Amino acid sequence: MLLQGKVAVVTGSGRGVGRGIALALAKEGAKVVINDVGCGIDGRGTAEDPAVQVVNEIKALGGDAVPNYDSVSDFKAAANIIKSAVNSFGRIDILVNNAGILRDKTIVKMEEDDFDAVIGVHLKGTWNCGRHALPLMREQGYGRVINITSSAGLRGNFGQSNYGAAKAGIMGLTLCWALELGRYGITVNAMAPSGLTRMVGTIPGMEGKEPPPEMNADLNGPMVAYLASERAANVNGQIFGRRGFGYTLFQQLRPLAMMYKPGGLSPSEIAANFDGVFLEHLQPIGIPQMRRDDKKEEKK
Ligand SMILES: NC(=O)c1ccc[n+]([C@@H]2O[C@H](COP(=O)([O-])OP(=O)(O)OC[C@H]3O[C@@H](n4cnc5c(N)ncnc54)[C@H](O)[C@@H]3O)[C@@H](O)[C@H]2O)c1
Repeated sequence: MLLQGKVAVVTGSGRGVGRGIALALAKEGAKVVINDVGCGIDGRGTAEDPAVQVVNEIKALGGDAVPNYDSVSDFKAAANIIKSAVNSFGRIDILVNNAGILRDKTIVKMEEDDFDAVIGVHLKGTWNCGRHALPLMREQGYGRVINITSSAGLRGNFGQSNYGAAKAGIMGLTLCWALELGRYGITVNAMAPSGLTRMVGTIPGMEGKEPPPEMNADLNGPMVAYLASERAANVNGQIFGRRGFGYTLFQQLRPLAMMYKPGGLSPSEIAANFDGVFLEHLQPIGIPQMRRDDKKEEKK
């Protein structure tokens, strides 16, 4: 088992992707704090308690877990999430920042509250939990952080400027933390997961249907478990994805082409040279749909 004796916090792990990650960590021997406020998909309240269900699932498998109900978006409450690991299991080795909500609208219809709420849970929530956990990891000279990002932040997605901005921000946190903390035995990586989670109920025609096996949200867990292990000590500041039954490694942004003139260029000089230098390099935007050939390839 890759994570025997390790202690993990997985935020938003009462459902979906987070639940799959928590179960994967527990199956590898980690003790897990199952944090989840049990809110609706838009972050508004419900009376549900998914955290305790996942704790029971882990215990039924012979593992160890405790529930925690604090919100990642509140700085003081986030301290309690990390304290819950220390108080229950004596330390924190692994932090998976996964909690998330959606308030999809195009920019012309999006309210300020839709922006603040989504940034608050994803970006501020990730920073909050990191801010409380990373000093403890630095003190013990060991830690693993996996931040859950999304293609919406890596490539853009229609109607998700709040979510895409938060997920792109999480990429920035990941790269900066990886640079700051690598020398203390801590790795910080990101993963863009996939899976038909409770969103399945909102997709027309999918109501009440089992997701196809390649869309199972539990498929994200094994890669996160590996990144959370001592075996992945040399993997830092990387961005992974999950596509069907496969895992991918994303390229990071690098300059691709350059227009140059000693002393600088005027707007009309840029206009005269733009196409010649940049046109063939302009990048596609948005998340590419999986082509039929890719799907066939995956089945092999
Ligand atoms: N499902 C996908 O295909 C997909 C794709 C890309 C990224 N993601 C990311 O994966 C993560 C999980 O998404 P999911 O699809 O499992 O969604 P989900 O709605 O099934 O699960 C998210 C969980 O987070 C909890 N949560 C929300 N706000 C919280 C807060 N403030 N504090 C603590 N818990 C909170 C919710 O109660 C919920 O149980 C998110 O970060 C999401 O952006 C998912």
